[in-house]
Amino acid sequence: MVKAEKITKMREIIKEWKSKGLTIGFVPTMGCLHEGHMSLVERAARENNRVVVSIFVNPIQFGPNEDYEKYPRSLSSDLEKCCSAGVHAVFCPNVNEMYPDKSLAFVNVESLDENLCGKTRPNHFRGVCTVVAKLFNIISPDRAYFGQKDAQQLAIVSKMTSDLNFDIEIISCPILREKDGLALSSRNSYLSSDERAAAVVIYSALESAKALLKRGERSAGNVKAAMKTEIEKQPLAAVDYVEVVDAKTLSPVEKITGTVLVAAAVYIGKTRLIDNFIFCLDEGGKQ
Ligand code: PAJ
Repeated sequence: MVKAEKITKMREIIKEWKSKGLTIGFVPTMGCLHEGHMSLVERAARENNRVVVSIFVNPIQFGPNEDYEKYPRSLSSDLEKCCSAGVHAVFCPNVNEMYPDKSLAFVNVESLDENLCGKTRPNHFRGVCTVVAKLFNIISPDRAYFGQKDAQQLAIVSKMTSDLNFDIEIISCPILREKDGLALSSRNSYLSSDERAAAVVIYSALESAKALLKRGERSAGNVKAAMKTEIEKQPLAAVDYVEVVDAKTLSPVEKITGTVLVAAAVYIGKTRLIDNFIFCLDEGGKQ
């Protein structure tokens, strides 16, 4: 496995692979790799001749009062995990390599960032799109793998890829969970043991919402109210948002028809965690 810290080195490796006609699968990450990340890597390894993982905690997607400084970093164990998983190259630049000057060019996907996390994290998705576009230009993969865990990120990156004609297939991968249902996340490492136990409320609220929808509830307001009530029963939890949005436009819906994304962001203590599921109805309103 090659470790590339410089863009020029990464480009040389890619050039060599491309000259041999090899396909490239790319998994962008911010490191502190867990089984959720590794499920993307495994899928990339199945579907491509070469796999590149990037590890870069991207400063421009964090707000001024967010956790950029304390975001968990564990490069040496990440490299070991990548090596055991058969990754061919890890691209791990430092901030100066990615942003040598004050950047003036940004990539922005309009409208899709107005709700959900975009509402409480202004400029977050502009930071994500800008770094992902830079990584796409450096690595030029055939396929790039993103988790459904970050559903809004996946929708926005997909739209950026098609609007800007990147010749890259975006592959959506399912959410990996702990045994009790908590979605795996690098930020779970911030939780104390009491908070870790409390965090399961996010999953149970989503499961209650799913059960309501399966029983025929079609009012988004009722679904959201039920989720809020359940989360608020947990003293260590505070709702940032619970939303039911159209899965494509990410605009809030009132009546549930077609395909919707049910999403929640919840503070457990000081740690903000997100989770979601997709619910599909056919044209006749059947599940
Ligand atoms: P990061 O949070 O490290 O996540 C990297 C990828 O792993 C994302 O596509 C995310 O959706 C996926 N992922 C995280 N937890 C998962 C889980 N439990 N199951 C399945 N997939 C999971 O997302 C980012 O980094 C950054 O915003 C990035 C795209 C790298 C740009 O900086």
